[in-house]
Amino acid sequence: QSPKKLLVLPGDGIGPEVMQEVRHIMTWLEQKRGLSFEVSEDLVGGASLEKYGVPIRDEVIEKAWAADAVLFGSVGDPRWAHVGFEKRPELAILKLRQELALFANLRPAQVFDALVDASTLRPEVVQGLDIMIVRESVGGIYFGSPRGIETLSDGSKKGINTEVYTTSEIERVARVAFDLARKRQGRVCSVEKCNVMESGLLWKEVVTELHAREYQDVELSHMLADNCAMQLVRNPRQFDVIVTGNLFGDLLSDLASMLTGSLGMLPSATLGVADESGKFPALYEPIHGSAPDIAGKGIANPLAQILSFAMLLRYSLNLQDAAQEIENAVSAVLASGLRTADIAGAGQKAVSTSEMGKAIIEVLNAAA
Ligand code: NAD
Ligand code: IPM
Ligand code: MN
Repeated sequence: QSPKKLLVLPGDGIGPEVMQEVRHIMTWLEQKRGLSFEVSEDLVGGASLEKYGVPIRDEVIEKAWAADAVLFGSVGDPRWAHVGFEKRPELAILKLRQELALFANLRPAQVFDALVDASTLRPEVVQGLDIMIVRESVGGIYFGSPRGIETLSDGSKKGINTEVYTTSEIERVARVAFDLARKRQGRVCSVEKCNVMESGLLWKEVVTELHAREYQDVELSHMLADNCAMQLVRNPRQFDVIVTGNLFGDLLSDLASMLTGSLGMLPSATLGVADESGKFPALYEPIHGSAPDIAGKGIANPLAQILSFAMLLRYSLNLQDAAQEIENAVSAVLASGLRTADIAGAGQKAVSTSEMGKAIIEVLNAAA
């Protein structure tokens, strides 16, 4: 088989630290499973700003188009927090999503059995939890115009962002959610604020119409976003698939990560539009950021990054067995009691990023 072309973009902060552990797993798959990866690595975010003066180069966008899939770490560095939006590290990920039209950000929140006690919620509330949040990722208030900061005649200022959604933008992401639900428990909850926002009202209308036209076998419900945040904490297992806009999806997925024990556990896949051959651009990344507060200490949890790579194997390369093997290894390592600091209980010994990575390889070896 010809090698799979991967573009690896570690980024800033803990990004390179957790990506290192994925690189070991890639090597293991090549040596032990006969897979072959052609990996190209590049700088994004603050690391790219430092060397090239921009958060992402056009060349990197072109490499992303050419790759079979992109594995992204995280971007963001307090040293660049005060520059304009056209020159922030975060622009790297926003630009990748936009230029590749990666409109569907899939954020699965699953609770590993061994981690039911790691959540801040009671075990009986989160045990067996399996939610898929489908977040629209190239529209909404993140990208709508007008936007900017204007100076008013009295010298004070006005900050402007605009939430915009069109019928087709809503429909294509809702379609992804309905298709996923068919392979899961068959339920979609569409989340907006139609009580205050026109874009939310249109969202609800479009999802309802699409459902009536093509997806009557799926159970559809609607929920206001504020209530959804509350329901996710009150009784998270009522949800199967949640479909929502860019900003609400961002907030609700960080919230959902704590149901699983830690932000360091949640992977994601961001999928684009398929061409005639069925090939689609895709980017895989943990939902967490560069974690400047723990960067450089070697204590970050690498599991979200590792699970993102498993999603890449499953969705973009159709390597179900390899993906399952990695997910099983994560599950086994957690069952053995190994914990990075973010998921360790009080008084429990925490291991480093690289120790966690090494333990995954050991389990893979033992099962091989
Ligand atoms: P963050 O996700 O980086 O961190 C939030 C908290 O969670 C921190 O206390 C951090 O230590 C902890 N945490 C996150 N990942 C962890 C891991 N793998 N293991 C253990 N603990 C972990 O969010 P933030 O602090 O609000 O943002 C920091 C920077 O990251 C900002 O510049 C932000 O814009 C950026 N960011 C980038 C992405 C991305 O690249 N996709 C995502 C979110 C935030
Ligand atoms: C995420 C992040 C990004 C977002 C930032 C870094 C632009 O928070 O991937 O969740 O808001 O989409
Ligand atoms: Mn986020």
